[in-house]
Amino acid sequence: MSLDEKIAGMSPRKQAVMRLSHEYGMPNRVETWLDAGIPMVIDRREGYRLWDMDGRELQDFHINGGTYNLGHRHPECVTQLLQGLQTLDVGNHHFPSEVRGKLSKMLAEHTPGDLHYTLFTPSGSEANDMAIKTARKVTGRKKIVAFDIAYHGSSGFSGAVGESTNAEYFGSAFKDDFLTVPYNDTDALEAVLKREDVALFMVETLPATFGFPLPDTDYYSQVRALCDRYGTLLSMDEVQTGMMRSGKLWAFENYGIVPDMMVTGKGLGAGLYPIGALVMTRTVGAWLEEHGWGYVSTFGGSELGCHVGLKALEITAAPSTRDNVADLAIFMRAGLDGLRDRYPFFCDIRQLGVIFALGFDHEIGGMKMATALFEQGLWAMFASFDRSYLQFKLGILADRAFCDEALGKLEAALQKVSA
Ligand SMILES: Cc1ncc(COP(=O)(O)O)c(C=O)c1O
Repeated sequence: MSLDEKIAGMSPRKQAVMRLSHEYGMPNRVETWLDAGIPMVIDRREGYRLWDMDGRELQDFHINGGTYNLGHRHPECVTQLLQGLQTLDVGNHHFPSEVRGKLSKMLAEHTPGDLHYTLFTPSGSEANDMAIKTARKVTGRKKIVAFDIAYHGSSGFSGAVGESTNAEYFGSAFKDDFLTVPYNDTDALEAVLKREDVALFMVETLPATFGFPLPDTDYYSQVRALCDRYGTLLSMDEVQTGMMRSGKLWAFENYGIVPDMMVTGKGLGAGLYPIGALVMTRTVGAWLEEHGWGYVSTFGGSELGCHVGLKALEITAAPSTRDNVADLAIFMRAGLDGLRDRYPFFCDIRQLGVIFALGFDHEIGGMKMATALFEQGLWAMFASFDRSYLQFKLGILADRAFCDEALGKLEAALQKVSA
């Protein structure tokens, strides 16, 4: 079927966007979404709701991996950005900055243990790149280990870590230095670490793209002990799981460990200004004391991004937000349990706080449900590395009525897909 045939029936404005994007930017993506029955062009967005360009209203359960953790265009964050624009711009990365300094201090205060120094980047990928460079500098070793089901970004180094299909496509998998281990398997990890040539174990606390599988409760304490025993640094990638989504500010706090480095991004900028951050212990970040220009990025730590980040972190870390997440986690879980009991096709629920993944009894069950839910007015993304699962990411400021509405749509989608 030609593109014109696929987009026939859409409004002229939406057809124009489809054609432009197909012609000049993302031909394969346009075709893939059209073929999947998810012909979305996001138009208006507010809170946890999106409006497709054809007018369809959707609940947002993708929230772009946590980017819209606080919802789209959170009013206080929009005001903060506008207020920042009265006097600020991206700033000059060579010099100290008031807002950058304040956000670094706030991150140090909101992370456990000796996590102290922050280096800001324009994205999560680049923060992970810097975790790799830092670990190599500190340990004098080169090898990096990650889960074979992890995603840590798409830049040079971060793209080579973890699941490597994309890195292989571009000839940048660097297999000798970037190794993988199975998730939740301490024996396999020890077999690699005991060679004592691994600089860093980069961990995606719950591998999002695989559908947030949960580790054994003592897995991460064993990981911490193994890293200490064999001189490997431990970095937790909290880009998707951080910012209170797990019920604690950082998901690794659920497992009682403190890493040597932590990466955050996405929701830190409230979906309004791109910002990523690498937080390091004083010891690991000591290179910052001797080399002021070891990381140079024009947009890393932009002042507008830091200004928005201050407000986003303040709202995210508030006790009332923590309480809301605890309430939603129980409320949504009860509703999901009820549906799972009634629909055998819906066979698994993974949960930590408001991070949910729903498992279905078909190898592409998550994809089928994404399409069925889209038709019902809810956008949730399947897990790309295991398409039997659907990521079901509830925003931390949502309420019970929003959950009830979503549960109704989920039931209607289940009826359709199970039929
Ligand atoms: C766990 C994780 N780490 C890192 C990244 C990369 O972040 P960014 O897209 O900001 O480069 C992502 C992006 O989806 C992610 O999910």
